[in-house]
Amino acid sequence: MLHMKDLDLKNKRVFIRLDLNVPLNKGKIISSERIDRALPTIKLALKKNAKIIIASHLGRPTEGQYDKKFSLFPIFIYLKKKLIGVNITFIKKYLKGIDIDSHQIVVLENVRFNLGETTNNIDLSKKYANLCDIFVMDAFATAHRIESSTYGICDFVKQSCIGPLLYSEIKILKSILNKSKHPIVTIIGGAKISTKFKLLSSLLKITDTMLLGGGIANTFISMFHPVGKSLYEINFKNKAKILYKTKKIFLPIDSRVSTSYSINSIATIKSVSNILPNEEILDIGNETIKKYKKIIKQAKTILWNGPMGVFEFPNFRKGTEEIAKSIANSTAFSVAGGGDTIAVIDLFNIYNKISYISTGGGAFLEFIEHKTLPILEKFKKQ
Ligand code: 3PG
Repeated sequence: MLHMKDLDLKNKRVFIRLDLNVPLNKGKIISSERIDRALPTIKLALKKNAKIIIASHLGRPTEGQYDKKFSLFPIFIYLKKKLIGVNITFIKKYLKGIDIDSHQIVVLENVRFNLGETTNNIDLSKKYANLCDIFVMDAFATAHRIESSTYGICDFVKQSCIGPLLYSEIKILKSILNKSKHPIVTIIGGAKISTKFKLLSSLLKITDTMLLGGGIANTFISMFHPVGKSLYEINFKNKAKILYKTKKIFLPIDSRVSTSYSINSIATIKSVSNILPNEEILDIGNETIKKYKKIIKQAKTILWNGPMGVFEFPNFRKGTEEIAKSIANSTAFSVAGGGDTIAVIDLFNIYNKISYISTGGGAFLEFIEHKTLPILEKFKKQ
């Protein structure tokens, strides 16, 4: 595989695909971690006197439609502040070509506003390739997606290579996977239920105990009890049953619920067997916290992805906070990944207490599952 650090980028138009998909609240960056981790790549390209084109997605907008909520503009402003003295501009319409000088950076608007991005459209991939001489794939967190700006572009660009962040993420994760000590405890939460089910089954092969929270846990709970208005996926109930048979999965026994979904919602703690039709599970309860903490204490390796509840709402933060702090205080080798997980790490200021923090969420889990990613296989064949 070609590496960016080994290439001569002088005066070349270099299209760097980063993952700058950071959590935002009303245009304000909640966690800058992914941008900060991408900065060394940008600085290396500047040092090499490249004409730098930065591309990323942000969220999941409707393709073909501009939506301010998903604009990369706030990320551009952050980059501008971090790269003082650098000629850096933001461009909304770029598919027909852009003017760029050496040592200049052009930040492209959200690639997912372009029709065909997520379906890896050939025409769009060609358009991206026409913008540059070299493609650098450095978006580890999006490296599990086969999309035009992460994958398809490679088929049409003159040269493509792997970036420093993608390389170091893979190197570290590989060594972790090969040397993990048992018991391995996997903690999975968050709302992306359907996207994580396949991965759960693979993780169950390497893990000794799996602790579930968030929307994912609700689907499992729904096998035994009604979950009211809670986020869950009925179509995955049968698949959940199969995974549950491994006897490695622990589910919440109690939860914090509410009849409304807002930042001021009041939490009531209830057994998961007592959820009413108008109630919604928004966090794990105290008994679950106690049980999960006991298991975490015994772990030698911890893999963590996703919050236990809606930690953005103060009354539904406790589960995520207690579990996060218990991981931080554990003597186990702890590995965490995922946009939301990083936001949690930032919120509770436990950054230095996690052994390794990956910038990837789905990519992190998929790499753990397959020990490779589609783009790596593509690069190997080139
Ligand atoms: C992530 O947050 O996991 C990555 O940025 C990928 O985002 P996606 O799940 O919307 O493709």
